[in-house]
Amino acid sequence: MLIDNYGRKIEYLRISVTDRCNFRCIYCQSREPIKFIPHEELLTYEEIEEVVRTAVELGVKRVRLTGGEPLGRKGIEGLVERLSKIEGLQDLSLTTNGYLLLEKAEILKRAGLKRLNISLDTLKEEKFEKITGGFSFDKIWKGVLKALEVGFEPLKINMVVIRGLNDDEIIDMAKLTLRYPWEIRFIEFMPIGGSVLWNEENVVSISEIKKILETFFPLEPVSSFGGGPARVFKWKDAVGKLGFISPLSEHFCNKCNRFRITANGMLRTCLFSDEEINLKDYLRGGKGSLKEAFFLALQRKPEKRLLKPTQRPMRAIGG
Ligand code: GTP
Ligand code: 5AD
Ligand code: SF4
Repeated sequence: MLIDNYGRKIEYLRISVTDRCNFRCIYCQSREPIKFIPHEELLTYEEIEEVVRTAVELGVKRVRLTGGEPLGRKGIEGLVERLSKIEGLQDLSLTTNGYLLLEKAEILKRAGLKRLNISLDTLKEEKFEKITGGFSFDKIWKGVLKALEVGFEPLKINMVVIRGLNDDEIIDMAKLTLRYPWEIRFIEFMPIGGSVLWNEENVVSISEIKKILETFFPLEPVSSFGGGPARVFKWKDAVGKLGFISPLSEHFCNKCNRFRITANGMLRTCLFSDEEINLKDYLRGGKGSLKEAFFLALQRKPEKRLLKPTQRPMRAIGG
């Protein structure tokens, strides 16, 4: 079992399978010019499987695949299929920008993927293009409906709320829960990867968002499937749920249950900490067993997030 110095049990692993992404979301862009990780530095699918098998032996129960855009890495459904067969892994999920869902939702479902979270920050065509760097809302929306059609449940939609950009759509996004059985999640904008857009004034706090939503209907707390930091509510009579992720205004470090692995195989103890353990030294370099790498990370996991924002871009960490 993986229990850290502060008594937290690590049961959730987020694995970024690529730092590449076709989108250029304006809140995800850093000041530094984009430099992608060379292919040979990525963990191979065989290596990812080995890491997950070890993690599961150590008590990890949930794995989430992230990116960049994870569906953009060739053969991702093959990785899903391998991982879905690992005994003891109870939850296998993926976070996507939705671009390839129309084509891939069905094959992912068949490969054994249990859950999908989709980023969708606006419902307006023009704004969608502005936020993502020129992509069409229509194609993504069709992808979301396809995911629903092939039976992904729960289906979660992530909206990073940014003042002056999409905060006028909080109610419209929430209204989707009157019609669809989705969990719409409102996320506070985090200062990660030297984001060009981030400043304190841009952050809309979860308490502000909740106040806006409560002018419409009261919010009732409900349970939700998933191991992440969202606190979940619903509007009375809605078929879907409303999730709130408040990393800035009310951090949830005391309940943190996760490690992350970057696309180039760096085991990260915290989203905000750039202290990393290079798994390739263990997988390829014979530094020791993978279990030793996990126990080392356990020793190094900080009690709470550091105040210094991480400089590694979000697309390389996977959120
Ligand atoms: P499930 O609960 O498994 O459905 O997923 P999740 O909410 O953990 O995953 P998702 O990839 O959809 O992430 C939603 C948002 O939560 C993103 O903005 C993530 O960056 C953020 N997030 C997820 N885990 C953490 C965490 O440990 N710390 C912080 N600060 N943010 C997190
Ligand atoms: N703050 C909060 N969430 C972010 N995401 C990307 N960048 C940020 C940020 N700076 C979200 C994406 C995706 C999830 C993995 O992380 O929208 O849904
Ligand atoms: Fe947008 Fe996610 Fe791609 Fe960043 S990694 S550009 S947030 S879709």
